[in-house]
Amino acid sequence: MSQNTEPREQWASRLGFILAAMGSAVGLGNIWRFSYVTGENGGAAFLIIYLLCILLIGIPIIMAEFTIGRKAQSDTVGAFTKLAPGTPWVLAGILGVASAFIILSFYGVVAGWTMRYFLGYLTGQLWSAPEGGYADFFVGFISSPVQPILWQFIFMALTIGIVFVGVKNGIEKTNKILMPLLAIILIILAGYSLTLGGAAEGLAFLFTPDWSAFAEPGVYLAALGQAFFSLSLGMGALITYGSYLSSKEKLPGAAGSVAVLDTLFAIIAGIMIFPAVFAFGIDPASGAGLAFITLPDIFAQMGLGGFFGLLFFFLLAAAALSSAVSLLEVAVAYFIRKFDWTRKKASIIVGFIIFLVGVPSSLGIGPLSNITIVGGRDILDSMDFIASNIFLPLGGLIIALFVGWGWKKTEVLEASDFGSSGLGQVWLFILRFVAPIAILIIFISSIRQW
Ligand code: PHE
Repeated sequence: MSQNTEPREQWASRLGFILAAMGSAVGLGNIWRFSYVTGENGGAAFLIIYLLCILLIGIPIIMAEFTIGRKAQSDTVGAFTKLAPGTPWVLAGILGVASAFIILSFYGVVAGWTMRYFLGYLTGQLWSAPEGGYADFFVGFISSPVQPILWQFIFMALTIGIVFVGVKNGIEKTNKILMPLLAIILIILAGYSLTLGGAAEGLAFLFTPDWSAFAEPGVYLAALGQAFFSLSLGMGALITYGSYLSSKEKLPGAAGSVAVLDTLFAIIAGIMIFPAVFAFGIDPASGAGLAFITLPDIFAQMGLGGFFGLLFFFLLAAAALSSAVSLLEVAVAYFIRKFDWTRKKASIIVGFIIFLVGVPSSLGIGPLSNITIVGGRDILDSMDFIASNIFLPLGGLIIALFVGWGWKKTEVLEASDFGSSGLGQVWLFILRFVAPIAILIIFISSIRQW
């Protein structure tokens, strides 16, 4: 019997915690997912609803998750059984672990694509457009049966490796270096993209709303799902990260910084991608390949494009890695406590199972493309839809209700560092009424989309 005798870990510093939470938030969601979901949902109108979701629902729930995690010092399921033993609130935790499995399963597939592109820039293969253009190359690659799965495997092995090493040395260290670098390169690319001739159209698409889109219930659901996905919210990733926080750190500041940074990354990514989309005559609603097709086009036009492509896909893969790590950590932390496994055993077993769960998502683009699950979507998109647009907001709803109604008010305010400040009252009001009602309305009005 190998009993787990390792003590629970803690972050080395407050900055380390904030950077790790930022590393979790900033990932494929900001660049790959944000660009194509924005493109498919009409641009500026979507962006406005998305920003409202972040402000009115996202930030308050980030705070709720941090508060739960730090108070409970346990994984996302354990946190609820500890703070509210014997109550159904634990459903949020269970939903969270399930979401970790589903999201990481397809996240690993897309992250594998970024690694393939990185290799393409390393060898020079992608410096100029391959025969048939980047679109053909992309579709050919992701629909082939074996190659993308190999890349998914490599990516998952890296993710497992970091979680295996542990919170402080694995997760905390990588984030400190890579995040600022990614921000710099994103700004350079956005600046360059604006010179390509599609700037006026691209910026209009992103910032001038088409008012008719506001009448579409599907746009609200997409914006809500994107807000949850991008902020790593509603599944206990931030509960888990908060649980490695020890002393009295100020939580509200941390929650605000994570949300602001994540949103900036997404908007700058939009400024990078949409001008190029119009400059190269691509349909903004062309779907999940948007970033993988337009970005190489930008690089091919740039002086030193090969070098920028290399750097960009390296950083994107790294950003994906720090997000994937937080997804795996949710499940691993649960298995460590629940089954008394060591961290090493839990990361390998859970990580490998998630890899297997992701294989059909990859195959669903090529050999299994006749299989559709939700509303005509292929397997990968269906996994994404179920987890991001349903499980995450549902988890967030339960978390908001728990902190708003299921926990003693004075205790919550103390645990959150808001104390008796007015902001604390506003926060609780949002968690009690605004966020739950908004999520419910969006759910109900879009039910026909499912
Ligand atoms: N927020 C991450 C991204 O934008 C994805 C993620 C979702 C990570 C949920 C953790 C939890 O890429």
